[in-house]
Amino acid sequence: MAVKINENYLLMKSNYIFSEINQRVDRYQNENPDADIIRMGIGDVTRPLPRAVVEKFKEAVDEMSKNDSFRGYGPEQGYDFLIDEIIKHDYEPRGIKLSNDEVFISDGAKCDTGNIQEIFGLENTVAVTDPVYPVYVDSNVMAGRTGPMGDDGRYQNLVYIPCTEDNEFVPELPESSVDLIYLCYPNNPTGTALNKEQLAVWVDYAIENNSIILFDAAYEAYIREENIPHSIYEIRGAREVAIEFRSFSKNAGFTGTRCAYTVVPKELKGFDEEGRPHSLNNLWNRRQTTKFNGVSYPIQVAASAVFSPEGQEEIQESVEYYMKNASIIRESLDNLGLKIYGGVNSPYIWIKTPGEMDSWQFFDLLLNEAHVVGTPGVGFGPSGEGYLRLTAFNTLENTKEAMERMSKLSI
Ligand code: MLT
Repeated sequence: MAVKINENYLLMKSNYIFSEINQRVDRYQNENPDADIIRMGIGDVTRPLPRAVVEKFKEAVDEMSKNDSFRGYGPEQGYDFLIDEIIKHDYEPRGIKLSNDEVFISDGAKCDTGNIQEIFGLENTVAVTDPVYPVYVDSNVMAGRTGPMGDDGRYQNLVYIPCTEDNEFVPELPESSVDLIYLCYPNNPTGTALNKEQLAVWVDYAIENNSIILFDAAYEAYIREENIPHSIYEIRGAREVAIEFRSFSKNAGFTGTRCAYTVVPKELKGFDEEGRPHSLNNLWNRRQTTKFNGVSYPIQVAASAVFSPEGQEEIQESVEYYMKNASIIRESLDNLGLKIYGGVNSPYIWIKTPGEMDSWQFFDLLLNEAHVVGTPGVGFGPSGEGYLRLTAFNTLENTKEAMERMSKLSI
């Protein structure tokens, strides 16, 4: 008898969108070795770690080299020295009270948003905004919750909530009741944000329908406008219905260093077949203690330095730097007559493709004619067709150069 595979994997598109883009760009670069390509596709930061972070990082590595300060396994949930800082700086100033055992340190919001579905039954109905960060969809496909993809590019058992120009990228409540709802705000990929009233609509829905919201706040550091919630727990009742994911990747440059955290309030409950309630915090803790051995000590020390006054100043500087790029992109593309969204509370700019071009055609045009790489909107879901995403995560020089090149295109 031969080994059988998890056939759910066959239901997915063969490539993760960013691998697909890399392959195409590498192919183009091989064929055109002189092309100076500017990558504004994947949302990967380009500025180095803050100095305050690096200093502490080095000190902690040093501690690991000495008998009396060496550390082996740490707590799977993360060290209290980091959790204390997170609660004190990210939540208390917003009037949100959390206990240490409601915060779980991890090696990334991608991993946590991908893994969280494991604690929920396969029979739950899952809703995603469309376009969407592909991890939420693919992790549910792998688990067997979505069924196959139909001809319309939608998984049959997944509820898609379109976010397009028509509804100004504000997701409307689903017509049928759903159990798990993924929301990411400020949004990847559209770069748009929800204000408190708009998010409260979803929290109220979840309370009424016994749903759970999986809220990805990885981009909260980019919020510039008032009345945009940084945490879903700013909304009344959210502790009973929402899990929140946060990351050090986009604010402090940890995409290659890896540190994030997930908040699972104790009030959150799921139910067994007999209708008995169970704590989601307990289930997530059980999952993490079994499958995860914690983030390395030096990295957690490094992450805690993000909250020092110097760390805060430096990350603020980086965020401002990227947001300046965002405003340059917005202004330049606006001058070109393109319709653009996002880039105000987020490092992503969501561009309507010009004329009748589809997402991949616009991607090819930018790559071939301007040597600029974006992400085709359709890679984020069917409602992303006809859009393309650019990121502000680049140097100021490259951003200006990319805009200069795009201004010469005949579009
Ligand atoms: C993106 O480009 O959408 C991001 O890189 C996603 C991520 O952080 O994994």
